[in-house]
Amino acid sequence: MNKTPNAMTQTGKENACRTVIPELLDWYDRNARKLPWRQTKDPYFIWVSEIMLQQTRVETVIPYYHRFLSKLPTIQDLAQAEDETLMKLWEGLGYYSRVKNMRRAAQEICQTNGGHMPCEYDQIRKLCGIGDYTAGAIASFAFGKPFPAVDGNVMRVAARLRDDSSNILQSQTKKETTAFIRDLMPLDDAARFNQAMIELGATVCKPTGMAGGPDCEKCPFGRVCLARLNGHEFELPNRVPILKHKEEDRTVFKIWMGDKVAIQKRPDTGLLASLFEFPNASGKLDMAQAVRWLKQKGFSVIRMAEMPESKHVFTHLTWHMTAWSILVSEDTVVPEGALFVSNEELLSRYAVPKAFGAYIEQKGFSDNTQ
Ligand code: ADE
Repeated sequence: MNKTPNAMTQTGKENACRTVIPELLDWYDRNARKLPWRQTKDPYFIWVSEIMLQQTRVETVIPYYHRFLSKLPTIQDLAQAEDETLMKLWEGLGYYSRVKNMRRAAQEICQTNGGHMPCEYDQIRKLCGIGDYTAGAIASFAFGKPFPAVDGNVMRVAARLRDDSSNILQSQTKKETTAFIRDLMPLDDAARFNQAMIELGATVCKPTGMAGGPDCEKCPFGRVCLARLNGHEFELPNRVPILKHKEEDRTVFKIWMGDKVAIQKRPDTGLLASLFEFPNASGKLDMAQAVRWLKQKGFSVIRMAEMPESKHVFTHLTWHMTAWSILVSEDTVVPEGALFVSNEELLSRYAVPKAFGAYIEQKGFSDNTQ
């Protein structure tokens, strides 16, 4: 994305947006879909709708919402519902843990608050299965409390309003967006404001690639939206999947035939593509397992000794390595893909990744063993 030509301070961005909040609320009153959960202030009804709306489209949710509430019209009914009833009412929505968590929370509410949803944000937030968004939605929609309800729709609107290219999947971005929305929110009209932001994201400030993407001509923020002013509305929000760091055990084999050691080429794609490595296997293999692995590959083992453990940290992966030094007989048939090379050749001709650094210096079978 190009550098933002229309650079504004954070406060400047908020002030500009704040001037059009009356237009946003007016737009909402004239254009909002008449959804059943918007016709009620019952916190239980709102709670059910918000849990159903997680990862499920509005049109799909509507019949489920009516069916669920006609069968279980109160928090007490939900608290006492049988598994079978819940499963039947939720069948087709997926993620059954959502409704089981709701029942657990309903039981907590019955035990601690006489079956009434608490009206304070902090108490709502503590209930099983209720996160920041849902707590904000219930506190504002049902009780008019000024708490933000920042879902994916609102994250998108806020990223575009500020022309902000931070990764929306990062928790820091969520925190900053929530602070921005909190500052923008009219304290005496939190419910209408939160619903308006959600509605704007769902029907006008749509994701790129969905139903034509953002429809800026219809947007009440059109005059102040920095993404639009800078021509970035189709590029935002920025969403970069966050890879979870994985930990993996590996067993490395330093296999000696006389003064030559076995190496093999890694696949042409993926981690450490096309580099050379010492044969290795997934997991932490003890001596018996290591012998079995070597036999299976066709090596005739004469002696073996354990080498020091080591670890290597890649960007998204850590290898915890156990290693064995192995002496194999000279008449071993070299398995396909492996080659035996001298130490000099290994160091001068073959690119061996740093991950194997702890084992590369070993000069012979009994060197550096335990
Ligand atoms: N998605 C999540 N919450 C919503 C709401 N209250 N109205 C419409 N869509 C939603």
